[in-house]
Amino acid sequence: MSERGGGEAYWQAVALSTDIGRRPKRVLCDGAPVVLFRSAQGIAALFDRCPHRLVELSTGRIIGGEIECPYHGWRYDGEGRCTAIPGHVGAMPHYRVRRYAAIERDGVVFISSGSPTSEPYLHCMQGKDVIVRRVRSSTQSTVIDAAENILDATHTHFTHKGLLRGLTSKRHLVRVEVTGGKGWVEACYTGEDRQQGLISRLLEGERAKTIGRFRHPGIAELEYWGRDGLVLATTFHLRQADKHTVEGIGWLIGRRQGLLGEMKALAFKPLFNVALHQDRRVLKSASDNARLPPQALPVIGPLDFLRRDIAAIMDGKMPAAASEARVHEIEL
Ligand code: FES
Ligand SMILES: [Fe+2]
Repeated sequence: MSERGGGEAYWQAVALSTDIGRRPKRVLCDGAPVVLFRSAQGIAALFDRCPHRLVELSTGRIIGGEIECPYHGWRYDGEGRCTAIPGHVGAMPHYRVRRYAAIERDGVVFISSGSPTSEPYLHCMQGKDVIVRRVRSSTQSTVIDAAENILDATHTHFTHKGLLRGLTSKRHLVRVEVTGGKGWVEACYTGEDRQQGLISRLLEGERAKTIGRFRHPGIAELEYWGRDGLVLATTFHLRQADKHTVEGIGWLIGRRQGLLGEMKALAFKPLFNVALHQDRRVLKSASDNARLPPQALPVIGPLDFLRRDIAAIMDGKMPAAASEARVHEIEL
């Protein structure tokens, strides 16, 4: 999940801190079950399978910072060491469950199958004085399709008509500059008209630029900039939970502007959820339909600026935009 052949170990966001209370929490990463719980040493992540009879540890209890298997009561500490076999007399044999590195930052739990040497990347406004709301989502899709969906400006006219775009089909010529580097690619849109959708009218003033960015391993972020600074931003950490499900842990970010900022942030979350629902519907339709024969590869159209670069980054390769910036003009 977090170490590719020869690649560097990295952190993967898997849950909100509030998801992990007194009960263990099971999450899937590329199909592998992981149990999260609060151990004596802090947040712990173990492979969610008791080595004894392979039962899900996440269906057991937490006792004194250790997880107890519900079948025969074997216990494991935060390091995955078996510490108790009820009924056994004498020296403890050494059994262990595979453990993952786990840390909590800013209300989010990150795990890694390696030993990352750096702190996890959180969100695009990290360290700035902003208002954040944390969100979680689950979508029937793949990470590349879900990331592209977040960053794709051209679907908003159709999928989010009225919400992110106006009801008219009027378009404006917009400049798009695509740049990139190791592990990231971004598209910067300038020359956009004031957006007429409900969300934009409620929350934004004049739009100066919009940036859509992808980061390794599956992070999609959007920044909306007005004349005097950031207006809104989102950073979503996506992961392939199982073959057909993408789970996202994200931050919704707004500028701190006293009470008005708080009110806007409150309004943003439900509206954002409506947009999310609309996206989930199209992504599910695509996912269901793609499985039907005959097999087909999706077309990468002239406006799909980031698709190949995202695929390269996910593959651990340098995106094409890193060696040469590209400029497009489109009607948005
Ligand atoms: S299966 Fe877990 S203790 Fe027996
Ligand atoms: Fe969308």
